[in-house]
Amino acid sequence: MSSFPKPDGLYKWADERLGLSDVVAIAAHKQVPQHKHSFWYYWGGISLLCFIVQLLTGVLLLVYYRPGKEAYESVRQITYDVDFGWLIRSAHSWSANLMVFGVFVHMFSVYFMKAYKKPREFGWWTGLGLLGLVMLFGFSGYLLPMDELSYFATKVGLQLPSMLPGVSTIVNNVVRGGPSVGENTVQRFFALHVVVLPLLFMPLLAFHLLLVQKHGNALPPGEEKRPLAQRRSVPFFPNFFAMDLAMWLIALNVITILATLFPWDLGQPANPLASAPVGIHPEWYFMSQFQLLKGMGLVLPGMAGEIAGMGLFTIVLIFWALIPLFDSETVAGKRGRIATWTGYSVVAATLALTIWGYAAL
Ligand code: HEM
Repeated sequence: MSSFPKPDGLYKWADERLGLSDVVAIAAHKQVPQHKHSFWYYWGGISLLCFIVQLLTGVLLLVYYRPGKEAYESVRQITYDVDFGWLIRSAHSWSANLMVFGVFVHMFSVYFMKAYKKPREFGWWTGLGLLGLVMLFGFSGYLLPMDELSYFATKVGLQLPSMLPGVSTIVNNVVRGGPSVGENTVQRFFALHVVVLPLLFMPLLAFHLLLVQKHGNALPPGEEKRPLAQRRSVPFFPNFFAMDLAMWLIALNVITILATLFPWDLGQPANPLASAPVGIHPEWYFMSQFQLLKGMGLVLPGMAGEIAGMGLFTIVLIFWALIPLFDSETVAGKRGRIATWTGYSVVAATLALTIWGYAAL
């Protein structure tokens, strides 16, 4: 009995065994810079909160969701029969969208603050890996209800890769599991969505956060020029952490308000024999890529346009991924300016293509 901790000695007892005070000391020692762009430091945390919401609501959805033949019926039950099922489904869908939005804001703010520069290159690359996984989470989750919209959007999304030499066999046999989207596809997307992607995402996220912990937050270029005596910062714990929590509270409110006031819709069950409804389109975060292919198709008819569009997208993506190697000067120079203007062009092109995509529906 003597080795059992008393309540007031519980922290000391756990600390002696787990080294908690070392973690608290690191957090209290870590400083977060304060300047007029500090607001952008919260977006990584907001993305993290959304991921936690996805895990919690996703596990609850798993209690009733049944992939395969009964996919639509099980989502209908969750939405209309199960107590608060509609709310959990709605929160999962809205939080997924907020997460994609948060990750994009985070990526562009990190880009314009030039936080990809030495020694943070791996922060940038692991981040890009996370973004790719987040997009795959969205794409695979979209099909799971198997309603009209999700069925046809997935069919369109897989059409082009299923025709490309080199990847067509993988897309047809492994991803789609047959010549057309069906039960096999739902089963595979389900395995991807709830097992494969989380297993890849979590260790990558842990590594990403470890790197942030190691290097701390980068200073944006304007602030770096300031003399040391004029720079301001606050301890991560408790000051910045408290602000992070406040941001989480705001984000949770946004998700709750959206989920209750605009409950996520469930369309008619997918009917593969019916013709695609007019205006079928992908989720908003795939719209710019979709419109790029459509736009190139206007200039170069047939497959040539789509292949040219994919080529252009791949070139920009490679440049984007290699930006830490291209813009590596410590003193801002020509390459730094090229990187900044490329960033502005990518933001402008993404917004313009997305707006054009919706206008053309
Ligand atoms: C689910 C996806 C992601 C999560 C949960 C996440 C989380 C975080 C968190 C909590 C931070 C520290 C606070 C901050 O600076 O915002 C951070 C920093 C960072 N993230 Fe992410 N991130 C994600 C995706 C990305 C993406 C897509 C990129 C870029 C391609 C990226 C690149 C970085 C970099 C370079 C830093 C260091 C920023 C600095 O030093 O100021 N992250 N991330």
